[in-house]
Amino acid sequence: MTDRRVLVVIPTYNERENIEQLLRRLHQALPTVHALVVDDGSPDGTGELADELAAADERIDVLHRSEKAGLGPAYIAGFRWGLDRGYDVLVEMDADGSHAPEDLPRLLAASESADLVIGSRYVPGGKVVNWPKRREWLSRMAGVYSRTALGVPTRDITAGFRAYRRTVLEKLELDDVASQGYCFQIDLTWRTIRAGFSVVEVPITFTERELGKSKMSGSIVLEAIVQVGRWGLKHRLSQVAGLVKKLLRR
Ligand code: GDD
Ligand code: MN
Repeated sequence: MTDRRVLVVIPTYNERENIEQLLRRLHQALPTVHALVVDDGSPDGTGELADELAAADERIDVLHRSEKAGLGPAYIAGFRWGLDRGYDVLVEMDADGSHAPEDLPRLLAASESADLVIGSRYVPGGKVVNWPKRREWLSRMAGVYSRTALGVPTRDITAGFRAYRRTVLEKLELDDVASQGYCFQIDLTWRTIRAGFSVVEVPITFTERELGKSKMSGSIVLEAIVQVGRWGLKHRLSQVAGLVKKLLRR
């Protein structure tokens, strides 16, 4: 691997039981990467534990935000922090162990030649372990819906294990990103593709958490359905408008 500086951004809300073990695994797999925990004032004390871990290890930093404001705003704050400090690659990873740090070297290797690397459950070799059937079904339906609405080929467009090159995040208008829940992942994939960047999916094994709870909710699903539908409609209408203009010019 070249000497690119890598920042792993890890959003947390009530992950006290998971964060220490995850950071340990991360630094076992990749001793030189830096980690930024972005905590939304977790009532269970995740932020305080992260502060203790950061005080003992210069590879760890913590960004405290006042209240639970969703995955999207947490990641954007983390990306800005990393861009300001000159990191070359910005990685997204869940705190609950669902994303194996041991898979990260393969994502980083792929990011030597791709602008966005997605750790994908739904390409050959990808796997989901211990997810309830209905949760996997929901995730797969979200994929079919997004691919159809937006007309993109990405197999795992909601995936939360990714590596962005800094050039991508510098170019995207992060100020315009309003997505709060997991549709943030679809939103950024869509913006990355439209800006002409290359996207590659590498297979990963996603393992359901053993400790703590998922923050998935009905309002997160609803936000995704409505927003993705709107982006798709806007995209199709502009395609039709372009076609009409072309015909009229003949
Ligand atoms: N700071 C912050 N603020 N962190 C949050 C928030 C929030 O509002 N909501 C969730 N998180 C953190 C969790 O603490 C965890 O580290 C990570 O984001 C993922 O949240 P989970 O609640 O564990 O997500 P999941 O397992 O249900 O969903 C998985 O699948 C989604 C759909 O494919 C994740 O991989 C998501 O990233 C993915 O979009
Ligand atoms: Mn999870």
